This record gives sequence, C-alpha cells and structure tokens, in this order.
Amino acid sequence: MNILIFGATSGIGRAIAKRYTSAGHHVAITGRRQEKLTEIAAENPTLYLPLRHDIRETDTTQSIITKTEQAFGPIDLIIVNAGIGKFNLDLDWNICESVIKTNILGVTKALTDAYKYFYQHKKGHLVNVSSIASLLGGAANPTYNASKAYQANFMEALWIKAQKSKKAKIAVTDIRPGFVDTKLAQGETFWKADVDKAATQIIKAIERQKKVAYITKRWRLVAYTIKHLPAFVLKKF
Ligand SMILES: NC(=O)c1ccc[n+]([C@@H]2O[C@H](COP(=O)([O-])OP(=O)(O)OC[C@H]3O[C@@H](n4cnc5c(N)ncnc54)[C@H](OP(=O)(O)O)[C@@H]3O)[C@@H](O)[C@H]2O)c1
Repeated sequence: MNILIFGATSGIGRAIAKRYTSAGHHVAITGRRQEKLTEIAAENPTLYLPLRHDIRETDTTQSIITKTEQAFGPIDLIIVNAGIGKFNLDLDWNICESVIKTNILGVTKALTDAYKYFYQHKKGHLVNVSSIASLLGGAANPTYNASKAYQANFMEALWIKAQKSKKAKIAVTDIRPGFVDTKLAQGETFWKADVDKAATQIIKAIERQKKVAYITKRWRLVAYTIKHLPAFVLKKF
C-alpha cells in the first residue's frame, strides 16, 4: 500500500508508520520537526518519505498529497493524526487559538484535500484520529474537546458523503483513542494504553474499515456511559 500520515514524528502517528513500513508498505510522514523526520526516515530510507509540513499552513497541504503520489504512485490510505492539546484552565486565548488552527483549520484542510483526492481517483481510505474527548466538554481544555467533537462530526459527514457516492468507493474511519502513553497525554493517570498496543488496534480497525473505533476497546464502554451522563456527574469534568 501507499500511505500518507499527517503528524507522524512522534507518539501514535510514528508507531503506526513504523508498523506499516515493517510490513513493507510505503509511508509518507509529515510533521514540523525536521530532525524527527530525518531520524525516522533513516530507519528505512526506501519505504519512508519524510515531508516537513505544518498542517496550519493550509495552502501547502495539497502539495504534500501530490509529492506522496509522485514518489510512490496512487495513494491508498491517508491518516490525519496531527494534533495538539494543552491544559488550559485559564482559557488562555493563545492556547485556544493554536488548538483551533491545528485541530480544526489544519485538520479540516487535510481531510478535505484527501477526500477530494480519493474522489478523483475513485477509491481510497480516509482516517482521522479524533478522541474519546469528542464525546463531552472538558473544563481542563475546552477547545481541545470541542475541536475533537468537530472532527468526529466532520468525519461522520464525510462517511455519509462517501456512502452516498456512486462514482467513488471511499472508506472513512474515525479513530477515537482514550488515553495513550504519549507526550500529549502527560498528566493523565489512568487506563493509559501503551502506544504499540494502540497502534495495533488502530491498524486492525483500519483493515476492517470501521466507521468509528475506540482505542483501546475498553473505551467503547466509557463512550456508551458518557452519552448517558446526568448533569451532576458532568460537573466533575
Ligand atoms: N495520547 C492520547 O492519549 C490521545 C488521546 C486521544 C486522541 N489523541 C490524538 O492522537 C493524535 C496524536 O497524538 P499523540 O498522542 O501521538 O501526540 P504526539 O506524540 O504529540 O503527536 C502529535 C503529532 O502531531 C504532529 N503535529 C502537531 N502539530 C502539528 C502541526 N501544526 N503540523 C503538523 N504536524 C503537527 C506532531 O508533529 P510535530 O510536532 O513534528 O509537528 C506529532 O507528529 C492527536 O490528534 C491527538 O489529539 C491522543
């Protein structure tokens, strides 16, 4: 397969990229940190394509897809994983703005360009990594939870669009991790999954072309519970 992963310089994205290259697939990886891209690509120079890219720079997103296709041929799978999340109890506007620019503006552009690419090519699989946080407001970082709710909603729209399409066969998968042991989840203390376990389950969900997948599986039960939470419990979040 030919794969493009937006946001693969660390954590979940890096672990998924490693799994795919270990299985012999071509993987284009993006992120802002050039030194990380170089380090990862050196592990398997024939299968990795390192592309420095800031997902907030929306006018450059299409060129990442084009460069991947030029290097590998038609792309089969695009995973939009880039994201940030910082505690923001004081509603610091700089943090709000950077989360919105990355998780909403940047991610929407990547998903839109990727969907259109697959539509033109009549097939493909589009994956986004949102979060269990998409299911409820979070006082510790309101814009993060809200941005993930936006992503989940947007992915559902793309899924419906793909189902209706007669011209193209596009699979759409929304991955919703709980806590995974990465830099982003520092400070979270319970049920933190090992990043390799998370990557294994994400790849299985992609293979099965799931509409929505909770990672790890136990978070499915949490998701069900969250949807039925009364207001007096919600106050604690
Ligand atoms: N860890 C968890 O518990 C958890 C739970 C639910 C959802 N998630 C989601 O999983 C995804 C991956 O997070 P992670 O936990 O693996 O954290 P991570 O290790 O911090 O990885 C984040 C990735 O996103 C990239 N990224 C961030 N801002 C970017 C930008 N402006 N342009 C391009 N790339 C950017 C980073 O690359 P550069 O820094 O090199 O740009 C990095 O590769 C995120 O969307 C996160 O919201 C994580």
